[in-house]
Amino acid sequence: MFKKEVYIDRRKRLHSSMKEGIVLILGNNEAPMNYPQNTYHYRQDSTFLYFFGIDHPGYAAVLDLDSGKDIIFGNDVEIDDIIWMGPQPSVKDQASEVGIEHTQSFNSIFDYIKNAISQGRKVHFTPPYRSANMILLEELTGIKAKETKAAASVELINAIVALRSIKDKYEIAHLDEIMAIGTEMHTTAMRMAIDGAHERDIAGAVEGVALRNGGHVSFPVILSKRGETLHNHNHNNILKTNDLLLVDCGFESPMRYATDNTRVSPVGGTFTQKQKEIYEIVLAANNAVNAKVKPGVMYREMHMLAARTIAEGMKSLGLMKGNIDEAVAAGAHALFMPHGLGHMMGLDVHDMEDFGEDYVGYGDELKRSSQFGTAYLRLARELKPGFVITNEPGIYFIPALMDKWKAEGINTDFINFDKVNEYRDFGGIRLEDDLLITETGGRIMGDKRIPITAEELAAVIGK
Ligand code: GLY
Ligand code: MN
Ligand code: MN
Repeated sequence: MFKKEVYIDRRKRLHSSMKEGIVLILGNNEAPMNYPQNTYHYRQDSTFLYFFGIDHPGYAAVLDLDSGKDIIFGNDVEIDDIIWMGPQPSVKDQASEVGIEHTQSFNSIFDYIKNAISQGRKVHFTPPYRSANMILLEELTGIKAKETKAAASVELINAIVALRSIKDKYEIAHLDEIMAIGTEMHTTAMRMAIDGAHERDIAGAVEGVALRNGGHVSFPVILSKRGETLHNHNHNNILKTNDLLLVDCGFESPMRYATDNTRVSPVGGTFTQKQKEIYEIVLAANNAVNAKVKPGVMYREMHMLAARTIAEGMKSLGLMKGNIDEAVAAGAHALFMPHGLGHMMGLDVHDMEDFGEDYVGYGDELKRSSQFGTAYLRLARELKPGFVITNEPGIYFIPALMDKWKAEGINTDFINFDKVNEYRDFGGIRLEDDLLITETGGRIMGDKRIPITAEELAAVIGK
């Protein structure tokens, strides 16, 4: 947990950026896996963590925008709980650690919200993403569970996005520190990517690094030699020399902050010529973005810069043809990179996407493109100092997509389908770094970039 002044300041800033009414922030409860006592790994709501820090089930909180009074609702544990869970700090003690004086029993929130509504006061809440909280919101507000998402407060969403998008010095220091564990997850995978290795052994070891360091993975590990499947959670393959192992994984710290990186290792330690050519194009796209990010730049422009770098590289190898500006404008590069360049990162690996991607990545003025590929861009807006974002270009050879475009004659002016077909079994390459936007530019987070050049990879793998 950060020191209490951090939470006090965050709440103060939320109070001053909102007009009137009540802000209601629900924590998360345990979620049963197959019967009530056998629960999924517990994850507190990130907005609750941001303003109240308490990482336990059974809490909700309100900020009264008119009186300025903040209250945490929760119950002290009883003897039955202590027998199973051990002693727990009281609600009062936990609240006091984050600078909150007022606590009440959990059940008293029902009357509290009912009274507020009966006085005609606005109750602001963010879009619920768990059905249990949709039902709780229905019980609290009378709004039907399935309508609670649509009833969320845009004023509150925008106020929280404005705060959480700019990481403070404590968050930046913490993120910089935990990058070392993300690095260890990746170098562990690189060293294990040898001929005959089972992907599942590597996936287990990668997750083990996160657990050994007191945290978890920040999202289910993506690890496969079939890297052309963007979110491949299947780890059933056995690696062979000259396979490419794509690993996209991150650490979730004990304070629930995320890292998110992707690296691709050549099994056996060295890339084939064909692999190296594609790898260098992705690396060039990553480096081009890395060199250009700074406050004031639109991230959509960085996405297009990566797209152009990839299209130029693919043309140099004979996979694309024609005028590159026209090819990119037509979206032809999306045959190879059918996803966006990156997203915000913080307490969530895709930060605040529970509010809706467009609130976080587009704001009021920008409109999301409807073109295949760019439509998946999660972050398009102007960069500001304090943003933490990912830069994750990739090139993938997805047989089903190649066949569809060829059969339907999509972008035939720009794609050399016969040549592309020679890469049918290639797999995919994505190279992902986490960037901090500074006052003057941007930098890769952490002390040291995760090994990324062919030489750096070979050195880790021991070639
Ligand atoms: N965790 C998938 C991604 O890189 O966004
Ligand atoms: Mn990732
Ligand atoms: Mn990512």
